[in-house]
Amino acid sequence: METATARQFDLTDDQREVRAMVRDFAAQRIAPNAAEWDRGHVFDRSLYAELADLGLMGVCVPAEYGGAGMDFLSYVLAVEELSRADAGVGVTMAVHTSASTLPILHWGTDEQKAEWVPPLARGERIGAFALTESGSGSDAGAMRARAIEQGDGSFRITGTKQWITNGGHAGSFVTFARTEDGTDDARGVSCFLVRGDAPGLSVGRVEEKLGLNSSNTVDMVYDDVAVAPADLLGERAKGFRIAMQTLDGGRITIAAQALGIAQAAFDLAASYATERTTFGKPIGAHQGIAFKLSEMSTEIEAARALTYRAAARKMAGEAHTVEGAQAKLFASGVARRVTGEAIQVLGGYGYSKEFPAERYYRDAKITEIYEGTSEIQKLVIARKLLGLDVR
Ligand code: CAA
Repeated sequence: METATARQFDLTDDQREVRAMVRDFAAQRIAPNAAEWDRGHVFDRSLYAELADLGLMGVCVPAEYGGAGMDFLSYVLAVEELSRADAGVGVTMAVHTSASTLPILHWGTDEQKAEWVPPLARGERIGAFALTESGSGSDAGAMRARAIEQGDGSFRITGTKQWITNGGHAGSFVTFARTEDGTDDARGVSCFLVRGDAPGLSVGRVEEKLGLNSSNTVDMVYDDVAVAPADLLGERAKGFRIAMQTLDGGRITIAAQALGIAQAAFDLAASYATERTTFGKPIGAHQGIAFKLSEMSTEIEAARALTYRAAARKMAGEAHTVEGAQAKLFASGVARRVTGEAIQVLGGYGYSKEFPAERYYRDAKITEIYEGTSEIQKLVIARKLLGLDVR
C-alpha cells in the first residue's frame, strides 16, 4: 500500500521502480529462506551475485564506476526492502555500500576509484569497514591498531579489528589505524584500503550473535600487513574524519534497516490480528490490540519520515550529521518496540519459531548498537545542537 510518507516525499518514478523491484525480489528469493538462514547461520554468497545482477550492490554508485547510477534515497529504499525480508541481508548490503564503497568514491583519487570501486559495485568483491576494536567501540578514536610507515612511503598495519561485518567474505577493507606517534585519540588515525587477500590479513574469531545470523561478523587480524603508498585513502592523520562522515551516511541506512524490520513485524501482526479470533471476533477488533497496531504504524511512519528526510538532505549535499543520528536513534527504538509488540499480538505464537516475530525482535536490537549506540547518537545530536563538548 502507498504510504503517506512516500507521497509526502514525492518519490520519483525511478525510486518507486527500485522499491517495487527490490520488494518483489526479496519476497521471492529472500523471505522464503530467511528462517533457514537464521537457524543455520547461513551467509548465502550466491545471493549477492544475484543482487549485483539487479544493480543492487552499487545502487547509488555512478554507472562509470560499474554502479546502477541511482540516488541515495533509492539505495535507502533498497536497504529498507531487503531488511523487511531479512535484516542480515540488509546489513550486508548496507555496510558493503555505505561503509566500504561510498568512502572510496568520496575520498579516493581517480586511480583509487577506478581500481577499487567497480569490483565492489559489480558485486565481484564484498566490502567491509574495519574501525572498531575490542577496546574501542563507542570511543572509536582510542584504537590501538598501528600503521607504521616504512622508508618508501608504504605502511605495515598490525592490530585486531572486532565486529567486522562481512569480514569473512570481503575482498576489500576500509581500514583505520594509528599512524602518528605520541597520539592516543582521533587525531593520529589514518585510513587505508586493504585487499582481502593481503598477506598477513586473516579472520580471527567468528562472532555468534543474538540475531542477524545470515550476516557475517568476525574479528580481523592484521599481522604486519603491507599497504602501498597508493592505498592511503585521503590525507594522512585525517582518517578519523573519513570514519565520522562515512558513519553520518551509514546511520541513515541503519535507520532504513530498522524501518524494514519494524514494517515486517507490523505486517505480520496486522495480518494475524485480522485472522485470529477470540471472544467471537478478530483480535484486531478488540481495542487492546487495535490501539497497539495504531501506535505501531504511527511510530513506523514517523521513523520513515525522519529517515527519508535525512536521505534527502544528504542527496542535496546538506549537512546531515544530526538528521542521520536522529533517524537512527528514533528508528532503532521503533524497531525494538514494534517487534516486541508484534510478539505480544501473536501471543504464544510470537514466542515460537513457527512465526518470524521472534527473529524480527532479535534482529532489531542490534540497530540500537552498531554504527554508534543510541547513547552515541544522543551525544552527536547534543554536541551539534548545543555547541558543547558533551562527553
Ligand atoms: N564529520 C566530520 N568530521 C567529524 C565528525 C563528522 N560527523 N565528527 C567528528 N569529526 C571530526 C572532528 O571535527 C574532529 O576533527 P579535528 O581533530 O580536526 O578537530 C575529529 O573528528 C575528532 O572528533 P571528536 O573530538 O568529536 O571525536 P571523539 O573522540 O569525541 O568521538 C564520537 C566522537 C562521536 C563519540 C565518535 O567516536 C563515534 O562516532 N563513536 C561511535 C563509533 C561508531 O559509530 N562505530 C561504528 C562502527 S562501524 C559499524 O558498526 C558497521 C557495522 O558493522 C554495521
